[in-house]
Parts: sequence; structure tokens; C-alpha cells
Amino acid sequence: MDNIYLDSDGLVHLARLALAGNRADIVAYVRKIARKVARFDPVVGEQLVTLAQDSNPSRNAMLRGEQLDRLPVDLDSRLQLARLDDEISLDVLPIWQEPVKAKLEQVLIERAKFKELAFANLAPTRSLLFTGAPGVGKSLAAKWLAKSLGLPLLTVDLAAVMSSFLGRTGNNIRNILDYAKSVDCVLFLDELDALAKRRDDVTEVGELKRLVTVLLQEIDSWPAHGLMLAATNHPDLLDPAIWRRFDMIVEFPLPNEVSIRAALSSWIGEEHEVPKGLLDALPIVLSGMSFSDLKRIISQLRRNQVVSGVALTDSLTLLIEQRINSLSKAEKIEVAQNLTDAGLSQRSVNSLTGLSRDTIRKHCETVN
Ligand SMILES: Nc1ncnc2c1ncn2[C@@H]1O[C@H](COP(=O)(O)OP(=O)(O)O)[C@@H](O)[C@H]1O
Ligand SMILES: [Mg+2]
Repeated sequence: MDNIYLDSDGLVHLARLALAGNRADIVAYVRKIARKVARFDPVVGEQLVTLAQDSNPSRNAMLRGEQLDRLPVDLDSRLQLARLDDEISLDVLPIWQEPVKAKLEQVLIERAKFKELAFANLAPTRSLLFTGAPGVGKSLAAKWLAKSLGLPLLTVDLAAVMSSFLGRTGNNIRNILDYAKSVDCVLFLDELDALAKRRDDVTEVGELKRLVTVLLQEIDSWPAHGLMLAATNHPDLLDPAIWRRFDMIVEFPLPNEVSIRAALSSWIGEEHEVPKGLLDALPIVLSGMSFSDLKRIISQLRRNQVVSGVALTDSLTLLIEQRINSLSKAEKIEVAQNLTDAGLSQRSVNSLTGLSRDTIRKHCETVN
């Protein structure tokens, strides 16, 4: 084979350097390999050289150190008020349903065409409000956007900031926002409804009003180069004035059957060889769940498979059995059709779905 650039010793050496985490050593080694590779594959050689040049460790490390030093803290408790994440990793490949997908992509396109917009005297979308049930991807979208833009994500958990003494919250929020404007980052105000939840406590009403006013002014005057994201599980609790100020509202729906199917394929993995008919039947019984519920269930089943040897096909079939009663007859028939396609006998389909043999015979054509 002529496309092996590294022998096994080289590979082990590279892994050792990478795990030791010394960038200067890794860069030196990549340069060395690049010279070797360039002799028989100039394109890959060039790519490696560029990689080694782009990673400028001293500058990045200094910048990061400086930014972290300046992260705002609560003056009394000295607790950090925000988290700066500049090496964002996503735990899953996000599945964006329409219209979420179109809106998030719109934001990225506008950023890519920043200059063209400026030329036409327009600013790109600066502020977005994410709404939706827990576990549908609001926080994931914040990470995904920051990662796609190559910017660090500054996350503020408003519930945590506000649990401190309310009189200080105004100052704390102002400090966070000033900081966010001073560094190149995506700001994410999570649990924005925390601002509204305390409204019923009369003694705090005045202070809260001032807070909301601060926030409204900030949303209005947020600089075009920055991006402000906010998320809430309870949009109805928010002051309508806050809603109106955001450039874009993104409502995250619960996953539909197509998305559930995509999530299952992605999380179960092809290598498990679960029959297609079973995977097609599952979205019908799992409808109404959030992405994070689905992820938790699938992870649990996969753990059971490894730890107790329960075959995934069996545990997924059991899952159908447990949830089948909440379905309408039409949905049960659809499940039965898919299970028949998956090769289950009429008798098994009957005991799983509770449909009569006659109904099954009428609706489900056996392939073999
Ligand atoms: N759209 C999605 N696509 C794929 N996985 C998702 C999606 N939404 C949520 N998840 C899974 O659920 C987890 C929790 O989602 P999160 O974004 O924190 O929900 P929330 O809307 O409450 O902020 C994610 O880390 C991911 O594993
Ligand atoms: Mg969240």
C-alpha cells in the first residue's frame, strides 16, 4: 500500500505526543512528517504544513488565559457568573427539523455575508430567542452555532445568577454583558424565564423591572459583530416586551417521526443490525418524547446489551410492547405492518400489539 504515511512506531509516537498535550512538540513532529509525506503526496504534505502553521500555540494560549482571567465573578461569593467554552464538543450530531434548520442556517449565512450586508447598510441577525420543551436541542443549538462560527460560547445560567441576592443581580448581569461585548464570543443566556419567575414576590418587583429594562436596552444595542442567544422552556412567562426585542424567534418542536427515526439510526448505529421494520415501528410508539429522553432510553438499552447481554432487538421489541397501549388502532396497525416486515410471526405481532389475528392478516402482508 502506498498511502501509508506513518509506520506503527510513528503512529504510537504521535499518539504519545498528543496525549501529553504539548502543542510545540506535536507541531514539530507534524512538520517532520509533512516533509516526508510531501515527497510522494504534495497535496497532503501542504495540508500538514498549513495545519502546523495555523496552530499558533503561544498566541491562542495567551488570549484564552487573558479572557479567562477576566471572567466576571459575583463580588461577594467570588463565584463565576458565566462559563467560557472555546473547545466546544457536541455529544451528538444534531438533528434540526424545519423550520429550525432554515433559521439556524440563515444566521450562519448572514455571518458569512457580513460585509455584503454592511455594504447594503444592514446588520446580520444579532439576537435569537430559543423556545421549546426541555431536551429538544436549545442548548445544543447554542453550542452548534458557536462551533460553526468558530467562536467561544459564553454561557450564563440566569437561574443561578438570580439565586444570589437579587439586589446584586442587576450589577452581575451588567458585568456579564459588558464582558461579553469585550470578547469575540457567542453569548448564551440560558433559562431566561428565571427573570420572570420571581415576579410574584412583591418586594422584588421594582428590582426585577430594572433588570428587564437593562436587558431590553442591551438586546436593542447589541453590537452587530456579536451574537446574543437566549433560551426558555416557559415562553409564556416572559414579558412580551422581551419577545419583541429579539431579531429572531426559533421554536424548537418535539421530534416528529422522521427525526426520531434519524436519531435512532444515528444512536443505535448500523453495526447492531436491528431489523429495519423494527426501527420503522419505534418512532410510532416513541412519538411525543424529547430528543434527550430518546437518547437516555437508547443509551440505557445499549448499556444493558453490553453489561447483561440483552440483545438490542429484544429490548427494543419490549419497548414497543410497553408503550403500545397508548396508541390508536390505526397506529397499532402501522406498528404491526412494520413488525411483520421485520420478520415477526403473526402470533408474535398479535401478542405484541394486541390486534386480532384477523386484523393482522388483513393489513399485514408477509413477504416470505
Ligand atoms: N435536535 C437534537 N438532535 C440531536 N440530539 C439532541 C437534539 N436535541 C437534544 N438532543 C440530545 O439531548 C441532549 C439535551 O439537549 P439540550 O439541547 O440540552 O436540550 P434543551 O432544549 O433543554 O436545552 C443533547 O445533549 C443531545 O444529546
Ligand atoms: Mg438547555
